[in-house]
Parts: sequence; C-alpha cells; structure tokens
Amino acid sequence: MTTQSEQRGDVAALVPAAGMGLRLGPGAPKALRDLAGEPLLVHAVRRLRQAPSVGCVVVAVPPGAIEDVRAMLGPEVLLVEGGATRQDSVALALAAVPGQYKIILVHDAARALTPPAVVERVAEAVRAGAPAVIPVLPVVDTIKQVDASELVTATVDRAVLRAVQTPQGFDRQTLVSAHDQADDALTDDAGLVEQMGVAVLTVPGDELAMKITRPLDLRIAEALL
Ligand code: C5P
Repeated sequence: MTTQSEQRGDVAALVPAAGMGLRLGPGAPKALRDLAGEPLLVHAVRRLRQAPSVGCVVVAVPPGAIEDVRAMLGPEVLLVEGGATRQDSVALALAAVPGQYKIILVHDAARALTPPAVVERVAEAVRAGAPAVIPVLPVVDTIKQVDASELVTATVDRAVLRAVQTPQGFDRQTLVSAHDQADDALTDDAGLVEQMGVAVLTVPGDELAMKITRPLDLRIAEALL
C-alpha cells in the first residue's frame, strides 16, 4: 500500500504562459499583470508548489523569454519555449515533464489565487483512477440562450451546468493521447479528452480559483490578499 508521504510530489503541473509579451504593468498580458506587487504567474506558480502533490512545475514561456521568466520564478521551475497556440504550448510543456510523473495538471496563470487544496483534490481524484478530472462550481446566474438578434430562445436548466476552473488533472497517457489526436484548438484540455470519448470527472472547485481577467477581478483579488 502506498502511504500519503510516498504520494507527495508525484504530480507535474503545466502552466501555458507563452501567449504573453514581457511588459509589466497596465496593458500587460494577463499572466504578467501585477497583483499586489507580483505578476499573476508568480502567484499561480507559488500556490501550485504549495500543494504537497506537486513535485514539478513546467511553464511554457514566449520564445526568447526564458531568462526573464527564470528571474521571476527561480531555478526550481522548468521553463520551455511555447508554441504557436495554447495547445502547442501545453504539448511542449508536457514533453518536458520527466518520465516519473504519471499525473499531469494543466493550470491557468490567471487563476492565481487557486488554493493548494483544489490542486490536491484534483490530483487525488486522478491518483484514485480517474483519467481526467476538472474542478467545477455550480452556475449561480440564470443562463439564457439567444439568437443572432439577441432575442432569448431558451432558458437553460442551470442545475445541470457547471463552471469549469483549473487545474485540470490527467493521467499522463490520457493527456498525451488527447494531444496526439486533437485536430482543433479547444479552450480546455479536458475538451480534448472528451473528444476521445473518455469520461471526465468533476470535483468541487473554489471561488478563490476565479479567473482574474477584468479590472474588477484584480481589485477583488488584491482585497483577498
Ligand atoms: O490567448 P489565450 O487567452 O487563449 O491564452 C490562454 C493561455 O494560453 C494564456 O495563459 C497564454 O499565455 C497561453 N498561451 C500559450 N501559448 C500560445 C498562446 C497562448 O501558452 N501560443
């Protein structure tokens, strides 16, 4: 039987951040926006590394940015140059993960306040045998479907809807296969796995794992810190 301590550090976390330039401050690409004096990417990687399961973090950075991002993140984070699309960047980061890691998480730098407990929840579900796991929250707003004229055509039953967060967790082989077979770019890696017909398990997410995208999100995140 495997003990808890033996399980620690058996997970690799990937952070695609190659879509960004290298400017800091207002107007900077999302992953480098300043939050309480540090780039979102730094906050996100710190919390990933606080999760006991995470033994390896790989960040995909823009070509030519390795040295700058190394200065932000320190020597223990693996850095690779990203590709033309987010999906390519994830695939390149995945290829850089040392062979001993059989559980892979894919995270979003904009979810900079994601609590380590969410990372652990996702990792544990993959460790327990699920090939793909996503953290989710119930949808609180009423959701309407509209047509091209913005007229409402339907009210969707929100009881069956979930808002998806990250990190998304995968058995390594499942993620490798999904990337090998993917023929179009989806916004999440679990979508690639769904296309293969593999079941994707949901676990509870956390409001703190919100995506920090709009100015209001940044102010909320700063207040939370
Ligand atoms: O541009 P978009 O919002 O879709 O990017 C989503 C995430 O994927 C960002 O964190 C971005 O840095 C990353 N990305 C990447 N490689 C690319 C394009 C985007 O790692 N070629």
